[in-house]
Amino acid sequence: MKADFDIKRARAETRACEEIVHFNNAGASLMPISVSDALHGYLHQEERIGGYETAVKEGDALDNFYTASAKLLNCEADEIAYMENATRAWDMAFYSFKFKSGDRILTTIAEYGSNVVAYNQQSKRYGVEVIFVPNDKSGQIDIDALENLIDERVKLISITHIPTGGGLVNPAAEVGKIAKAAGIPYLLDSCQGVGQIPLDVEELGCDILCGTGRKYLRGPRGTGLLYVRQEMIEKLEPPLLDQHAARLISSTEYEIRRDAKRFEGWEQYFAGKAALGTAIDYALSWDIAKIRDRVYDLAEKLREKLSDIDGVHVTDEGIEKCGIVTFRTDQKDVDELKKLFAAEGINVSTPKGSGSLVSFQQRGLKELVRASLHYYNTEEEIDYFITTLQGILQR
Ligand SMILES: Cc1ncc(COP(=O)(O)O)c(C=O)c1O
Repeated sequence: MKADFDIKRARAETRACEEIVHFNNAGASLMPISVSDALHGYLHQEERIGGYETAVKEGDALDNFYTASAKLLNCEADEIAYMENATRAWDMAFYSFKFKSGDRILTTIAEYGSNVVAYNQQSKRYGVEVIFVPNDKSGQIDIDALENLIDERVKLISITHIPTGGGLVNPAAEVGKIAKAAGIPYLLDSCQGVGQIPLDVEELGCDILCGTGRKYLRGPRGTGLLYVRQEMIEKLEPPLLDQHAARLISSTEYEIRRDAKRFEGWEQYFAGKAALGTAIDYALSWDIAKIRDRVYDLAEKLREKLSDIDGVHVTDEGIEKCGIVTFRTDQKDVDELKKLFAAEGINVSTPKGSGSLVSFQQRGLKELVRASLHYYNTEEEIDYFITTLQGILQR
C-alpha cells in the first residue's frame, strides 16, 4: 500500500467508516464530514433566514463550485455549468447538436445506457447513424478501428470513459487526439472518473465532459457538472432555455448567454451546489493522482483475491483498470449475494445490464456483483469482504 496516503485522516473525516464496509462508491460514496456539514449548514440557513437570502449570503460558496470545478478539470470557471446529475449534463450538451440524416455518431461498446437511449432517439428522429466502435482484445475501445471510421459523415465522437458495470478505463486521451486531428466534437462521459482519476480537459482533448457529484467526488446526491469548451459553447444552442440561460429582451427577442451557464436552469439545488464545491475542494486536498493510485491499488488487491476463489469470475476488462471491481459466481445469484453481504455490514451493488447493455449483451453477461472501492476503504476491509464471500459460498 502506498505509504504516503493518510488513511487515518480519510477515515476520521468519514463518519460512517467504522460502521459499514462501503464498497458501493460507484453508486454513491460516503460524504466526508466537511461536505455533509456544508450541505446541512446551508439547508439550516435556508430554514432560518430564507432561500433567496441564503443564496446572497452564501454567494462565495456558490461561486466556489465553478472555480473548484475549473481547478479539477483544468479549464475556466465560465466553461462550467452546475447540473442536477451527469445524465442531464450530458443530455443538455448532446441534444444541442443538430443532426441530419446520414450523420454519424461514433461511440463505445461500454457506453452508458441512458446515452444509448438518447442516440437512438435522435436516430429515430433524424436518421443519424450510431456506430459502436469495436473493442480491442483487452476490452477497451479499439483506437485503430476508431481512426478507420473517421470520415466526413462523423459529426460527434461520444464515449464513456469508465463504464458503470466494470473496471475498464477507456483511453480517453487517445480518442481526444483522433477527434482533434479530425476536427470532430468530442463528448466524454466521465461520470465515474471525476474524483477518481485526474482529469485535465486539455490532455483529454475533449470538448464536453460530464460528471456527477455523488460518486467518486463524494458530494451529495442530485448534483453534477458539465464542462463545455469555450469555442464550443456558442455553437451549441441548448434544447431548453429559461431566463437564466437566456436574457429576455422584448416580447419576441432573447439573447442566449455566452458562458456555460446557458445549459443550466434558474432554479437549482443551491445547497447541493455549495456542498459539491466543498466536495471538489476536499478531493483536491488529497491530490487526485494519489486518490487514483490508492483506489487502483486496493482494487487490484481485491481482484487478485477474488480470482483465487474457485467458482468466482472477475469480469473487469481493459488495460487500465480502476476502482470498480465486478465479478460473478457459479454458486449464487447476485441479489442473494447482495443481501448476504448486507447482513454482514457490507454494501455492494448488482448491475443488471441496463447501464452497460451493449457491453453485457456482447459478452453474454446478465448480472454482476460490483464492489467499487474508494480511498477510505482498507486492506482489512478487503480481507473481511473475501472471508465473508468464502463463508457465503460454503453455505
Ligand atoms: C458512465 C455513467 N454515465 C452516466 C451515469 C449517470 O449519472 P447520473 O446518475 O448522475 O445521471 C452513470 C451512473 O451510474 C454512469 O456510470
